Amino acid sequence: MTASFQSPPQWHRRHVLSLQDFSAAELDIVLQTAASFQEVLNRRTKKVPTLQARVVANLFFESSTRTRNSFELAAKRLSADILNFAPGTSALSKGETILDTAKTLWAMGAEFMVIRHQQSGVPHTIAAEMDRLGTRVAVLNAGDGLHEHPSQALLDLFTLCQLYNPRQPRCALLQGKKIAIVGDLRHSRVARSNLYSLKAAGADVHLAGPPTLLPSEFSDYGVTLHWQLEPALIHADVVMTLRLQRERMDQHLIPSLREYHQQFGITHERLRLCQPHVRVLHPGPVNRGVELSSALLDDAQFSLVNQQVTSGVAVRMALLYLMGSYLDPSA
Ligand code: CP
Repeated sequence: MTASFQSPPQWHRRHVLSLQDFSAAELDIVLQTAASFQEVLNRRTKKVPTLQARVVANLFFESSTRTRNSFELAAKRLSADILNFAPGTSALSKGETILDTAKTLWAMGAEFMVIRHQQSGVPHTIAAEMDRLGTRVAVLNAGDGLHEHPSQALLDLFTLCQLYNPRQPRCALLQGKKIAIVGDLRHSRVARSNLYSLKAAGADVHLAGPPTLLPSEFSDYGVTLHWQLEPALIHADVVMTLRLQRERMDQHLIPSLREYHQQFGITHERLRLCQPHVRVLHPGPVNRGVELSSALLDDAQFSLVNQQVTSGVAVRMALLYLMGSYLDPSA
């Protein structure tokens, strides 16, 4: 391991629940730590003993492919022991509460709880209870309802900064870059976390979507709103597409998926409005042919979707490592 792992930089957070109050300096700590772990992941031996014998509990009350597996792999690469909690086969079905479930895992020795829940605020509630009980448990929000998805925004930030400097990714690289975030802003926890981190990095953020999916309150974030796609795309350096959340479409917020694609779907042709070096992101899972064309999704010249997934492991290793250092600075 490099010296930076022995002597972690200043980090003052036990929990990571939101990016709202992250400074650029703190984001840079995550980026630099993730870059070091990415070097580890590129080696033949991809494992380090950093969290040996420490217990990470994955509590995913809502379905996930990327985030759950990425946290599991990150914890394994750090030599932690993993508890994968599956609600359907747990004592929740016998009436146990979520807080009692968390306390049970803490009593088994879980030091880290990675929590995804369909309701906003559940990770905060568990973190508050762990604090009230005087435990040393660190809680990581892995996506809560419509609220936030901090580790997704951090891996997006890492992916983007690495475009401009692969070995030394840092927020300053995004200063003044035009980043268009397109799609279902209203329901997107990914967008909310990204707004905080991209604004902290000094990016010029533009949001685009139909008025039903892009309420005017978003102007409070200090970004530019567009209810048509083209102005958002003109000279953009980056286009972030958001998943159209079919499970929330029972309110008839768009006429049809086909019409949405016609108006806001990202295609090779529409990218001609952007900078020639433009790159496209999507947090996944993708609705092929809706948020972006299938051909664009698979075009590695423009699409960073696979890179985002790869970055996720290094970024989540960095978060677990930094939070672990806070819990036990001597480790
Ligand atoms: N991006 C994201 O959160 O994907 P999953 O739902 O698969 O975890």
